Amino acid sequence: MRLGIDFGTSNSAAAIVRDGKLLPIRFGEAEQFRTSVYFPGVVPDPDDFQLDAGQEHELQQLIDSAARAARAAGQERTPQALRREALRALRREWMEARAGKERSASDLLQNAVYGDDALEAYFEEHEGNLVQSPKSMLGYNLHPRARQTITGIAAHILEHIRLTASAQLGQPLRSALLGRPVQFRSSIGEAGNDQALDILREAANQAGFDQIDFLEEPAAAAMHYHAESSDRHQAVIVDIGGGTTDIAHAEVGGSEAPRIHRAWGIARGGTDIDLALSLSGYMPLFGRGITRVPTHHYV
Ligand SMILES: Nc1ncnc2c1ncn2[C@@H]1O[C@H](COP(=O)(O)OP(=O)(O)OP(=O)(O)O)[C@@H](O)[C@H]1O
Ligand SMILES: [Mg+2]
Repeated sequence: MRLGIDFGTSNSAAAIVRDGKLLPIRFGEAEQFRTSVYFPGVVPDPDDFQLDAGQEHELQQLIDSAARAARAAGQERTPQALRREALRALRREWMEARAGKERSASDLLQNAVYGDDALEAYFEEHEGNLVQSPKSMLGYNLHPRARQTITGIAAHILEHIRLTASAQLGQPLRSALLGRPVQFRSSIGEAGNDQALDILREAANQAGFDQIDFLEEPAAAAMHYHAESSDRHQAVIVDIGGGTTDIAHAEVGGSEAPRIHRAWGIARGGTDIDLALSLSGYMPLFGRGITRVPTHHYV
């Protein structure tokens, strides 16, 4: 079963198709959650999984059997790669077993808190790390350490989605179809798109997905519109998001499959409007452009 994921700049959602019907995943009461996460301490690295003695033994067995399988298939695998993969499988099982028990969502994943609760927890605790809209950073020029941290953050959010969906559907989900903007927000031009996709793929892998595919967000929006349209017609579908605006020209409706003719993307969205409104409408109340305080202090 494949989980469709809309990992958005401002809000994230997920759904599956069962018996030809769209079945959204619930996050608390809602069918989406604010793409924010709060870590009470430092941002944990999903690769830092601590094994107990029993798990060490299990890990060794997994490594040995993977090594035998690789030899039989005539593949060269380094001991490091074998260990990494075995560790990932073991960690995933452990996370799924924990998610099945009646623990609060915040107790999982080293006490990470997601969505609106993340903001509340951050304001209550006055410490720790609050991360909002990590998607908008994926296409930026990143120091290797920053890249690792952002990959880990995206992995935690995708794992939260995977575990929530798995618990709701009563079966572990291993396959994901991830939405992607046509143009990611980027400071390095076209290379930003490739980097963002690499980070998302790596994060989804860390989050426990084995099969990862991408679908352009306006194509996904067009398919949704198609499913609601009875007559065949040409349409321009516009998805204005928090970070990007995505547009598709498609032939939709009726019993035939939709045909996406073309898709475009602009790396601008609602957060740019929020920011511009804040700077021009709200910050003057604090003296921006009115007092002699340099304007760059207003952020
Ligand atoms: N009630 C509201 N009032 C004003 N603006 C809103 C409201 N709800 C959403 N928005 C705007 O819509 C944006 C979020 O839209 P949406 O949830 O579609 O974005 P997203 O899918 O997370 O982002 P993207 O697709 O760019 O990654 C917010 O950034 C905000 O600017
Ligand atoms: Mg969106």
